[in-house]
Amino acid sequence: MSTEPKASQAAKKVTTRSLVQMKQRGEKIAALTAYDFLTAQLLDESGIDVILVGDSAGMVVQGHETTVRVTLEQMLYHTEVVSRGVERALVVADMPFMSFQINPDEALRNAGRMIKEAGAEAVKLEGGAGIAKTIEKIVGIGIPVMGHLGLTPQSIHRFGTYQVRATEPEEAEEVRRDAKALEEAGVFAIVIEKVPASLATEVSQSVKVPVIGIGAGAGCDGQILVTHDMLGIYTRFHPRFVRRYAELGKAMHGAFEHFVRDVKAREFPSKSESY
Ligand code: KIV
Repeated sequence: MSTEPKASQAAKKVTTRSLVQMKQRGEKIAALTAYDFLTAQLLDESGIDVILVGDSAGMVVQGHETTVRVTLEQMLYHTEVVSRGVERALVVADMPFMSFQINPDEALRNAGRMIKEAGAEAVKLEGGAGIAKTIEKIVGIGIPVMGHLGLTPQSIHRFGTYQVRATEPEEAEEVRRDAKALEEAGVFAIVIEKVPASLATEVSQSVKVPVIGIGAGAGCDGQILVTHDMLGIYTRFHPRFVRRYAELGKAMHGAFEHFVRDVKAREFPSKSESY
């Protein structure tokens, strides 16, 4: 009997519900980020389960040092172009810093814009028990929410560094409590970033919703990376959890230099490239 999925199964739309079912079946969830139409289309065709329109756009697309400068309008734009390129994967939009922290009503209004104006199918919010009421409100009107614990880059100015989080027992306990609080508030999944693998495994086993790790070891229900990191395009940092699946930055650099040389040497365009 063939173990290949049938074409109809392979093309089946990923939903928040199917992600929970994948956890129940023990099937790992593969997630990557996108900020533009073409990348989203390539990711979708590759069979990725979740495409996150991350506010990492602030760093890998806009060139900022952190994600905190990203605006709601920019996230709406990125989400809109990404969602246009996706048929199968679940499109999750990051709620940027200060778009959900003021009060639950404002958070709800902004989450609603991500769905209604930009085509997201779910939103992601960074934070634990402190934003549980906000999550309940958003989930309550039918917008699926993904949580984000551990290293939460929007709080970089409080943390002061991008080092691994929750290595001390108090913070590890807070992560465990936050995961439970998020589950009770109704999230459909939780991203857990840069914490010890043993803690992430424990958290994954303690909640029913899928836990998707980034720099959190192999015991999570799924894995996510920033696409520009794994393609070797964003090279400002190279944390050890980023596996480089390609060196596109080097390939692009080489191609750009080649073009410059060809133009200067009058080798481009050729006759066959002219009309
Ligand atoms: O913004 C982002 O890309 C993220 C991932 C690191 C999970 O939140």
